[in-house]
Amino acid sequence: MATNRARVKSVEDSIRDTDEPGHRLKRHLSGLDLAVFGVGVIIGTGIFVLTGVVARDQSGPAVAISFVIAGVVCGLAALCYAEFASTVPVAGSAYTFSYATFGEFVAWIIGWDLVLELALGAATVAVGWSGYLNQLLGDLGVPLPTSIAGDEARFNIPAIVIVAVMTAVLVLGIKLSSRVTSVIVAIKVAIVLLVIAVGVFFVKAANYTPFVPPAQPPAADASGWDAPLVQTLFGFMPGTFGWGGVIAGASIVFFAFIGFDIVATAAEETKDPAKDMPRGIIGSLVICTALYVAVSLVVVGMQRYSELSAEAPLAEAFSSVGLPIFAGIISLGALAGLTSVVMILMLGQSRVLFAMSRDHLLPPAFAAVHPRYGTPYKITIVTGVFVAFLAAVVPLEELASLVNIGTLFAFVLVSIGVWVLRRTRPELPRTFRVPMVQVLPWVSAAACLWLMANLPGETWLRFVVWMALGIGLYFVYGRRRSRLAAGGSLDPATAGERETARNRATD
Ligand code: ALA
Repeated sequence: MATNRARVKSVEDSIRDTDEPGHRLKRHLSGLDLAVFGVGVIIGTGIFVLTGVVARDQSGPAVAISFVIAGVVCGLAALCYAEFASTVPVAGSAYTFSYATFGEFVAWIIGWDLVLELALGAATVAVGWSGYLNQLLGDLGVPLPTSIAGDEARFNIPAIVIVAVMTAVLVLGIKLSSRVTSVIVAIKVAIVLLVIAVGVFFVKAANYTPFVPPAQPPAADASGWDAPLVQTLFGFMPGTFGWGGVIAGASIVFFAFIGFDIVATAAEETKDPAKDMPRGIIGSLVICTALYVAVSLVVVGMQRYSELSAEAPLAEAFSSVGLPIFAGIISLGALAGLTSVVMILMLGQSRVLFAMSRDHLLPPAFAAVHPRYGTPYKITIVTGVFVAFLAAVVPLEELASLVNIGTLFAFVLVSIGVWVLRRTRPELPRTFRVPMVQVLPWVSAAACLWLMANLPGETWLRFVVWMALGIGLYFVYGRRRSRLAAGGSLDPATAGERETARNRATD
């Protein structure tokens, strides 16, 4: 049996697997489709909800700076994702990349970790969707009981319904889901532009001072676990605001950028991944960063940061300046916008689990592709049921930071992986190359770790428990069943493999 160290699945093997009969996904998507997908999943709860919470509790008007910091960190990671996706155009994103660089154990860890980003993220946004729906129904005078709808429901029925509908769309086909997304993205971007274009006329300069409110001591009842880990470790507790608050705010609004990496999970369904991937990933990220900074500057200019709403800050800011009609339109847009986020997060989750099943780290039966629709329908349905369950019963508000830590951890590994793969497989064709490869991936990894360190100690605790569970499961199941366990080493470092790869590259 191959040792763990030798269990590296070569890039060629990963690409070859995508051609296996019965496991082949359809290549439909163009660069523009990918950028639309990116924007479709990136703009969501982050800008529509978190802007208010973070401005009010952490950053003040400097929430715009928190967005810039998070955007820069994501930009660095995006460059690394773009190189990887253009080199290894295979479903599974960070999971597949890790298999090719660090080997099976790390790949499993990353696959397990991505459940935090994708399934938990989808469930979080589904609950947010339910909250917006109930707010709109309330405005129309027909609210649902809070026990079955909204942010605090005990059994969240609208969240289950939205997850079920999106699962059906995903099973029916990726081209269809791409079309649904295009319409939603158009609405969402129009709403965001509306906020900027109309809101700018209601900005009051006085609301920008102080731009970075002075640091305040922690509340008397705050426990050490609530504080960012970095503050607890180094023994200072500035509580909220100040520059510490701006950075802690960045680690929370990071949620608003989650999604550009999911574009990479669709690599196997992309027409020309080498060209389209970097365009799709970086393009969507640049557009969203610009929109976020503009929206947050407008919103904190319209309403004093301390008065912003925690649930619907954009809509409320318009109500506060006497424009309730715009508030209604924004709520509708948010509702449409969150729909595509739920769908694409689930799309990413099903593709990662698909790749893991194909490698037999999960039961291989899940890797079946539907003969007519060409989608991995079984794993999509499993994903839908899991997300619906989470969204229905788990109080997700507090768990959003768990989504962030899981995502940042994946970014760290992908960044370092780019550097590793340049050393282990320098000959691989790379249409997109990270500039300054000796430095940039390390800066990216360090920046992600820095944001992780600014998340609460409690989040770290949950993260460690989740990862420990995953490691246990690997040793009980995946390690023995893995294709590499059965088929022996596929280590690209072996001379024969290298020779074949070189011949193939020069063919
Ligand atoms: N970036 C996505 C959002 O903000 C996950 O909802």
